[in-house]
Amino acid sequence: MQFYLLGYPLGHSMSPFLHQAFLSQAKLEGHYELKEISPKTFSEEVTRLKEMGCDGFNITIPYKVDILPFLDRVDSEAEAIGAVNTVVVEDDKWIGYNTDGRGYVTSLKYHFPALFTTKSRFLVLGAGGASRGIVHALNNEICDAITVCNRTVEKADALLESLSGSKQLAGISYEEAEKTLDMYDCIINTTSVGMEPHTRNQAISLKHLSKDTVVSDIVYKPFHTTLLQDAKKRGAQIHHGHEMLVYQAALAFKLWTGFTVDVRPVIQAFEEKLI
Ligand code: ATR
Repeated sequence: MQFYLLGYPLGHSMSPFLHQAFLSQAKLEGHYELKEISPKTFSEEVTRLKEMGCDGFNITIPYKVDILPFLDRVDSEAEAIGAVNTVVVEDDKWIGYNTDGRGYVTSLKYHFPALFTTKSRFLVLGAGGASRGIVHALNNEICDAITVCNRTVEKADALLESLSGSKQLAGISYEEAEKTLDMYDCIINTTSVGMEPHTRNQAISLKHLSKDTVVSDIVYKPFHTTLLQDAKKRGAQIHHGHEMLVYQAALAFKLWTGFTVDVRPVIQAFEEKLI
């Protein structure tokens, strides 16, 4: 079987490591290769891939939206998110999916199942591509409220407008979020704040954090971000968002092969590489 990851740049991608581990767990012969495509040749390279054929591919920054016109069909979740990270090839037809948000939520739920109740309130920091996937996935789960905090509140409002359902939804500023922090059961950082090399930066002040709140960070370089260290010092529980990468990959692998991966040993091997 032949799979690819399309994106630019791809230098440090962990996806080949993850998918090789999945292939050997599934006892399947195959390869997962990086296809770094410069923006100038994107259309040409994608057309060539269509001619060449493959069993499926992942697509990452900056092409999760650019791939849409090349697809024969987009599943409803990816359509609502407006971006695709996984393409399944079926009878030469390309079908787009988005497993990012579902991957993140699967990890959060594994560690903190009690967060998913009719009373739970989530605060999501950031309203970019990563936030979009996570907010849509949260909206499909049981919870009471999803609040999105962003420097530009209009962007948070626009993201929430794309959701349907009966949950309480609101876009707010960082100032407001900091003042009301103890209202939330879970705070999720989806911004790149705190990522190497600016590791001392922290997206939000945790001054008013409750010990009962779970703080999660999708930044995993460094593994122990300043935000997570601060939350831990204040006695709150923390969630390392790096597992999102493994779970989204496992969901893509399931779509391609039908095989359900046991992610825990792969996460352990991944962590040994990270820490
Ligand atoms: P990604 O695909 O990783 O989500 P993105 O779509 O460019 O990347 O979105 C980045 C998000 O991080 C945005 O919500 C951005 O906030 P703005 O919309 O206000 O720009 C947020 N972000 C980036 N740098 C930030 C910073 N220094 N402080 C707070 N938020 C930041």
